[in-house]
Amino acid sequence: MDQIVIRGGQRLKGRIPISGAKNAALTLLPCALLTDEPLTLRNLPRLADVDGFGHLLNQLGCSTTIEGSRPEDFGRVMTARATTLTSTVAPYDIVRKMRASILVLGPLLARAGEATVSLPGGCAIGNRPIDLHLKALEAFGAEIELASGYVKASAPGGRLAGGKFTFPVVSVGATENAVMAAVLAKGMCVLENAAREPEIVDLCNCLVAMGAQIDGIGTETLTIEGVDRLHGATYRVMADRIEAGSYACAAVITEGDVELVGAKASEMEATLSALRQAGATVEDTRTGIRVAMSGRAEPVTLSTAPYPGFATDMQAQFMAMATLGTGASLFTETIFENRYMHVPELARMGCDIDVRGRSAVVRGVDHLVGAPVMATDLRASMSLIIAGLAAKGETQVNRVYHLDRGYERLEEKLQAVGADIERISAG
Ligand code: UD1
Repeated sequence: MDQIVIRGGQRLKGRIPISGAKNAALTLLPCALLTDEPLTLRNLPRLADVDGFGHLLNQLGCSTTIEGSRPEDFGRVMTARATTLTSTVAPYDIVRKMRASILVLGPLLARAGEATVSLPGGCAIGNRPIDLHLKALEAFGAEIELASGYVKASAPGGRLAGGKFTFPVVSVGATENAVMAAVLAKGMCVLENAAREPEIVDLCNCLVAMGAQIDGIGTETLTIEGVDRLHGATYRVMADRIEAGSYACAAVITEGDVELVGAKASEMEATLSALRQAGATVEDTRTGIRVAMSGRAEPVTLSTAPYPGFATDMQAQFMAMATLGTGASLFTETIFENRYMHVPELARMGCDIDVRGRSAVVRGVDHLVGAPVMATDLRASMSLIIAGLAAKGETQVNRVYHLDRGYERLEEKLQAVGADIERISAG
């Protein structure tokens, strides 16, 4: 298995191109199932999960072609066309490797009137149930059965009737599935306490470009008037706010100065405000956001929350940054129950972190020491990279496949701003 090796201590300086957002891409791709016309997505990140989703679409009878992609370019253009669906089944083998596969449930049900999708099961950051996905679809008229580890959903008469659902807790994935199911319903669908993440706005904007009728985009109440059919569209995937925030943390811990090219401040205010709390200079530039730091990070107090709150997907990276802070930082994770898996690995590099239930106290230390470390999930892996960039000596990050799921050409982007980082291929 590949390994990433970092010799820490280099100040990051320069421009980092921000890729298309993984989490937006993974909800835009299944939109192709909603129409027999082509959906062209631009600025798709080159990531293992995006390729995996393409394969899932192929299995359902949706063709995918990638154009204009030279290996040296960031971003790709993919055209997906589901002229006719040849299957409505997302099998266990695919879903277990890629949780986001569950996002074909809503669109298959909307287009074909039926869908059979494997239950994803637990994952490294907790239990992650899908009950809310199913309850929202039921509220719109779906009949749902669970059998042999699969969800079997059908729409009586081949089409969802419409209805109203109020989410008891905010869920990104359940909102996405429900919106994609609703756009082809017979009647009106209303979602209350819906997630408002920028990726959901991106999804809704793409669906509108395909002919959907959605009111309240960007608010917690989405009203969707079902239409008889959707048409094709060309849509550009938003910039990855989590990737941008991750590199911002890397800049701060190395006392660097970087421009996150393509990042949009309006989509990541909570991250930018946390960076300012740490003492960083954060400013808009003509082409992105500049993040610069001199001296050690000041302690931060951060609690994860649904958007527009501080993203759970940024928690591990800020924690890594806080390990070299000037005092004690306090983190509270409110979204997932098991999202401190990076802590024991960071401890191997000399960090002082005390986890008590959902909270963690990080006391800044004088220096970190490179070590062989191993990651358990995507953002946890990035926290180890960030710590490694500032640690004395060499850090070897194992299980690089986690990073490949979510960071497009990580080592290339970091090398270009001065990091001493390389990938050692297992060969
Ligand atoms: C998405 C993101 C993930 C991010 C998370 C929170 C993608 C591919 N993934 O994940 O990167 O960390 O949002 O911003 O976009 N819940 C239920 N029942 C459900 C669904 C969720 O109880 O049916 C709970 C979860 O256990 C969790 C909370 O709701 O406590 C939020 O989860 P959710 O927003 O659904 O996360 P994902 O969509 O899985």
